[in-house]
Amino acid sequence: MHPKINIVGVSKTYSSGGKKIQALDQVNLTIDHKDIFGIIGLSGAGKSTLIRCLATLVFPSSGVILFDGKDLSLLDKKQLRHFRQNIGMIFQHFNLLSSRTVAENIAYPLEIASLNANRQQERVDELLNLVGLSHKKHAYPSSLSGGEKQRVGIARALACEPQVLLCDEATSALDPKTTQEILTLLKSINQQLGVTIVLITHEMEVIQEICNKVAVIESGKIVEEGFVADVFFNPTHTTTKEFLRSEPHESKKDQKRVRLQFNELIETPVIELRGSEKELLSALNYFSKKTVNYEVLEHGH
Ligand SMILES: Nc1ncnc2c1ncn2[C@@H]1O[C@H](COP(=O)(O)OP(=O)(O)O)[C@@H](O)[C@H]1O
Ligand SMILES: [Mg+2]
Repeated sequence: MHPKINIVGVSKTYSSGGKKIQALDQVNLTIDHKDIFGIIGLSGAGKSTLIRCLATLVFPSSGVILFDGKDLSLLDKKQLRHFRQNIGMIFQHFNLLSSRTVAENIAYPLEIASLNANRQQERVDELLNLVGLSHKKHAYPSSLSGGEKQRVGIARALACEPQVLLCDEATSALDPKTTQEILTLLKSINQQLGVTIVLITHEMEVIQEICNKVAVIESGKIVEEGFVADVFFNPTHTTTKEFLRSEPHESKKDQKRVRLQFNELIETPVIELRGSEKELLSALNYFSKKTVNYEVLEHGH
């Protein structure tokens, strides 16, 4: 009941128009029970391919994925259908059915699992309550905000009580405030329901906000991985450093992330300063006077 996912030497090659595209190249990762595991990379790095392999929507060209020690490539059709109930998935563009109400969208996987009608209704109400959308039960997706649509997506993904939730750029179409709300919801789902979360993103802030572990993927290869705190304090790969320096969201214009270096200490804490431009400058001045070295990692302008 405690799924551990081992991705062992996984490569994936697509053939397209006579050309071969290597989307994944010898990926090794271990995802533990209750992790919120973030995979970050630029567009085309292979993130969706990797998460689709975990969902058994595509299969590796070589290497194996073990789920609780079971090799997914050895499952027959019936076993695969059964396995997929362990997995929920949410998407950047929500993938809701526009002709169905919120409740009917959430009920969809329950219909497929042949749950009886009464139990379906109960479960839909529980899920609506969980994602804070009880008041939108009979609304159609077209009348919902992006954040509300993703809440429906999350409720639908959790309908069959999966052990793992896969998130493919789940907040990339949302504004910063809504992103924050959805991340808070995902974190509480991880903590309260014990659901393991694997999320892929191109935004370091998403990783920073909720993940305990992170892997950086580039051209199908994992170039860095570890606990988020370790990777953030001591990034070794150029790509990771670039992600850490990348432009912050609008809402973060009035803050800076600063790495402090004290002479005697090996540790280099990263702190977040918030305030007006003037206040931020005077804080940095203060550090200079105190002979604390600092490096501004991220700022609003
Ligand atoms: N079904 C497919 N057929 C051919 N090439 C694909 C397919 N899916 C993805 N690719 C290619 O594989 C590489 C990785 O894609 P993808 O996994 O979608 O990356 P990401 O999600 O990080 O943007 C890209 O070069 C992409 O064009
Ligand atoms: Mg993708």
